[in-house]
Amino acid sequence: GAPVEVNISKVEPGQLLRVEWRGKPVWIVRRTKEVLDGLTKIGDQLRDPDSVEPQQPPYAQNAFRSIKDEYFVAVGLCTHLGCSPTYQPDTFGQQVEGVPSGFFCPCHGSKFDMAGRVFQGVPAPLNLVIPPHFYVDEKTILIG
Ligand code: FES
Repeated sequence: GAPVEVNISKVEPGQLLRVEWRGKPVWIVRRTKEVLDGLTKIGDQLRDPDSVEPQQPPYAQNAFRSIKDEYFVAVGLCTHLGCSPTYQPDTFGQQVEGVPSGFFCPCHGSKFDMAGRVFQGVPAPLNLVIPPHFYVDEKTILIG
């Protein structure tokens, strides 16, 4: 499949932009500073907090699983059986107390944080996949 170019200049803080790459949904989420701060505090609730499993390219194997902290790029498919999790920017606290935003899979209840890291005690075994991507310029990402 061909790489997909994505203009991120209109993505507001908190917003999720969905594009398609190789027949799969890919998300670009603009994370706020509050969200990023929260990600550093929940490691003990996660299955693979340090992204040891190779679910991301080496350049995204870091605390926020991204090239730039602010922009999270991920394949929007649950690592259990491939449903597409729902982005819950405001209501995720109903899934995990004290964690205001995240992704919830409606199929069997898997939960992922704002870096796509899977919570413990759910069916999904692995963090969400980060696709190969890079920044062409400040406001343009090439996926693939
Ligand atoms: Fe997401 Fe089963 S496919 S929890």
